[in-house]
Amino acid sequence: MPGILLDTLRGTNTKHRPIWLMRQAGRYLPEYRELRAEKGGFLALVYDTNAAAEITLQPLRRFGFDGAILFSDILIVPYAMGQDLQFLAGEGPKLSPRLVDTALKALTPVSERLSPIYETVRKVRSQLGPDKTMLGFAGSPWTVATYMVAGEGSRDQHETRAMAYRDPAAFEAIIDGVIQVTVEYLCGQIEAGAEAVQLFDSWAGSLSPVQFERWVIGPNARIVSAVKARHPETPIIGFPKGSGEKLPAYARETGVDAVGIDETIDPLWAARELPQGLPVQGNLDPLLLLSGGDDLDSQIHAVLDAFADRPHVFNLGHGIGQHTPIENVERLLATVRAWQR
Ligand code: CP3
Repeated sequence: MPGILLDTLRGTNTKHRPIWLMRQAGRYLPEYRELRAEKGGFLALVYDTNAAAEITLQPLRRFGFDGAILFSDILIVPYAMGQDLQFLAGEGPKLSPRLVDTALKALTPVSERLSPIYETVRKVRSQLGPDKTMLGFAGSPWTVATYMVAGEGSRDQHETRAMAYRDPAAFEAIIDGVIQVTVEYLCGQIEAGAEAVQLFDSWAGSLSPVQFERWVIGPNARIVSAVKARHPETPIIGFPKGSGEKLPAYARETGVDAVGIDETIDPLWAARELPQGLPVQGNLDPLLLLSGGDDLDSQIHAVLDAFADRPHVFNLGHGIGQHTPIENVERLLATVRAWQR
């Protein structure tokens, strides 16, 4: 029995709606903050495979989500491609050297930075019940490249968008490099026990339609076809955050098995415009989960009802916020669990 999450991702309208939350492992959980204080820092946690497995399992123990998302980060790929990576408290991630002033070929890849992640997947899968789904993930090339080029997160991905126009050949070399490592990385996770994988394209929304075709749809399609050539049975969820009216084209052209939608999308629009029968994931506003109350309940129902006629994985429109009250997450779970087709 694979469980309702995997069944849904394979296209079944399950009686109950599966649920997991992006960033479900993390700082809103006291048990995470405790381990983090003990081990000192995010990367130390990621590379301590026992700690990373424990953190991956924490939200399932507490809430009983249907999926366990690997505790790692999308920036592990640039780290394995040879950039230095630091997570500085209060400042977010820093990568160096920045590819806005260093060529990709000046970097020396360090593939040993990927293998501990597979070990974590193995450890988690061995402790998960058969009805729970192990989810692997990677960043999509465009989003990962924005960090590699600028060396950090940026408000509107200005430097990377400018580079993509100014020097498309150099930028394409970065994207090609990320595609290659990402395919290996996702296949490594699947071979270690990941049963579905998600591609996070958090900054897909900053591109013009033409650039979106080239840097979002194209690279995601290449990753999907390369991973599927080796693992045709493993569902791939694409999450091109902020892509709005470009979502139907993304869904049709990339070959993903399910599409994640953010909270700016009207669920009724998505239900109407996305290919019939395609599993959809999302899209409760994470900020509603902060404030709670009756508005939270009614929006949960609006999302559940909008997708009553197609496979749907309940999730947020983006990652859960670090100040989210635990009782609101409990309330969300209870409401989703009570609903049935
Ligand atoms: O629970 C999960 O979803 C699994 C783990 C996960 C993390 N990051 C852990 C993390 C996943 C899937 C990610 C994805 C990720 N990382 C994305 C794509 C999704 C999104 O949020 O848009 C991006 C853009 C990153 C890059 C990143 N990592 C940033 C910008 C930051 C700093 C901001 C922040 O939220 O702290 C991180 C750090 C990070 N990644 C933390 C966690 C739990 C916080 C580390 C800590 O301080 O404890």
